[in-house]
Amino acid sequence: MQKVIALDGPSASGKGTIAARVAAALGWAYLDSGALYRLTALHAQNHNIDWANEAAVAALAAELPAEFRGQTVWLDGQDVTQAIRSERIGMGASAVAKLLAVRQALLQRQRNFLTAQGLVADGRDMGSTVFPEAQLKIFLTASAQIRAERRAKQIGVPLDGAAFAQILADIQARDAADRSRPVAPLQQLPDAKLLDTSHRSIEETVQQVLDWYQA
Ligand code: CDP
Repeated sequence: MQKVIALDGPSASGKGTIAARVAAALGWAYLDSGALYRLTALHAQNHNIDWANEAAVAALAAELPAEFRGQTVWLDGQDVTQAIRSERIGMGASAVAKLLAVRQALLQRQRNFLTAQGLVADGRDMGSTVFPEAQLKIFLTASAQIRAERRAKQIGVPLDGAAFAQILADIQARDAADRSRPVAPLQQLPDAKLLDTSHRSIEETVQQVLDWYQA
């Protein structure tokens, strides 16, 4: 058993927020594995490397000059905390995350986040590949409607117009693509606990994770 809580779930399920808060509550380290794929995509873009060029992107990922400092993320000595959150880099992250050689290049780096205290790890293959011996695995989800409503509120979109319908359609399309992708598909592992946050607050969700861990 590894002192790891692994969290996965569909896009916009709030796993990053929950994982960071659980880590803070336990005094454990936190791994935002999606950030590593975003950093890889940005690094490739900065080097004019096509996101589909598996060997070249994997070589960059293996030597990624990235650092996490508190709440900030740095690449090549530059603060890229905001830059990696753009829609475009999100698409790039999704493209490079499909490449097996890139996933392999990032594997050990992710495992190095585990400290003696423990680690909360957020991302697609945390429980299946990176930390298969994790003490607790959680599949965090919420209905597509609720996830779309949360996203719309975040960016100030009314819940009754065409813009909202588009957000919901995007989330549904993203779910379908994530479930059917051949590499690291979105799935609930047989040994993962299902945590549906549709009718739970952030605090209640964090508490449920802590209760399971302490049980
Ligand atoms: O919230 P969202 O899933 O859009 O973003 P993220 O967690 O920052 O992940 C960025 C991209 O990397 C997504 O396409 C994820 O599916 C992918 N990813 C992955 O394949 N494996 C991970 N361990 C983490 C993220």
